[in-house]
Amino acid sequence: MIYLDHAATSYPKPDVVLDAVTKWFRYVGVSPDRGDGPRTRSCAETVQRARRAIADRTGHRADRVAFCSGATEGLNLALRALATPGSHVLTTYYEHSSVVRPLTAMTVARDLRVTRSRSTEDMCRRLAEGEGDLVVMTHASNVTGALLDADSVAAAARARGVPMILDASQTAGYVPLKCGAAVVVASAHKALHAPPGLGFVSVSEDVELAPQKFGGTGSSAALERHPSTWPQAFEAGTPNTPAVYGLAAAFEWIEAQGERALLNAARAPMQHLIQELQGMPDVRLFHGGESHDLPVLSFTHQRFDPAEIGAILAGEEIHCRGGFHCAPWVHDLLGTTAGGTLRVSTGPATTTSDIDQLVAVLRAL
Ligand SMILES: Cc1ncc(COP(=O)(O)O)c(C=O)c1O
Repeated sequence: MIYLDHAATSYPKPDVVLDAVTKWFRYVGVSPDRGDGPRTRSCAETVQRARRAIADRTGHRADRVAFCSGATEGLNLALRALATPGSHVLTTYYEHSSVVRPLTAMTVARDLRVTRSRSTEDMCRRLAEGEGDLVVMTHASNVTGALLDADSVAAAARARGVPMILDASQTAGYVPLKCGAAVVVASAHKALHAPPGLGFVSVSEDVELAPQKFGGTGSSAALERHPSTWPQAFEAGTPNTPAVYGLAAAFEWIEAQGERALLNAARAPMQHLIQELQGMPDVRLFHGGESHDLPVLSFTHQRFDPAEIGAILAGEEIHCRGGFHCAPWVHDLLGTTAGGTLRVSTGPATTTSDIDQLVAVLRAL
């Protein structure tokens, strides 16, 4: 199979990640902070290593990094805590459903006002003119690969004391995340190359979140009241420790390969595909936007629906995605509300030959 859906989840995961997950199942088995003894302590150290690697990237304190089941849970947590009743929320057209849907659910329930921007320039202007009580934005479009200028928005938000939530799901593992956002949320299973079912919320000291989930944390176990200390307050329930083992190993792997080198390796076949698609008269290409782009693009075809092309490619064992990609708003901008787009996203292991096989099928349509 030729796998070209890395924006959904990276595949295959590096061997060191698989080995670390297996190690947990075979030789560890315990959760951090549950019990005593060398095995629990060693487990806690591995989890702490992953937390520190996240903190190094976000610029926040390691004890203000909480693991959760994914970016979806992290974004729900951050939005529920910070989109207080009556807030004016500034966001972009590029958001994933994990921002769009909580915001939509809260708009009526909390009387939110939500303003969507087409560009970060527009967001900065609005912030400078005194608009907005909260910013939530994706760092990159999961449909076009456009990398958004989170640094400028974070600076404009900070200047006004407005908290900003950055959804770094598409960029963590490829792009530095230290932009000054108060909250950084990401998913572990995309460019971080860790297992699914894991994500994190990393929060600066000047912003407080409220736990949305209450339960066992291993600590203060005799108390009825949920602890308020980070990170336990946000990690109720038995954690996904095998996935955290995978993430700790993934960080070492990324460190060894170099984040930039991994991004460039994924971009090279994407550049080749862009050139090929630009030469196809039936194709309308959507790629990038504001600055250096991620290895994700979308296109539509004059004669075929994205879902049809997706099915034809699947028949040739080429895995890409046709449709809306859980990003409902961006299709208003692209003019693709009828059937969405066909999305292709490469990873560091994608080869030129993978792209040539995709192109051969598209040429034969
Ligand atoms: C931009 C963006 N945000 C959030 C998510 C949700 O991530 P998770 O699967 O970890 O909940 C995704 C995943 O598709 C995404 O692409």
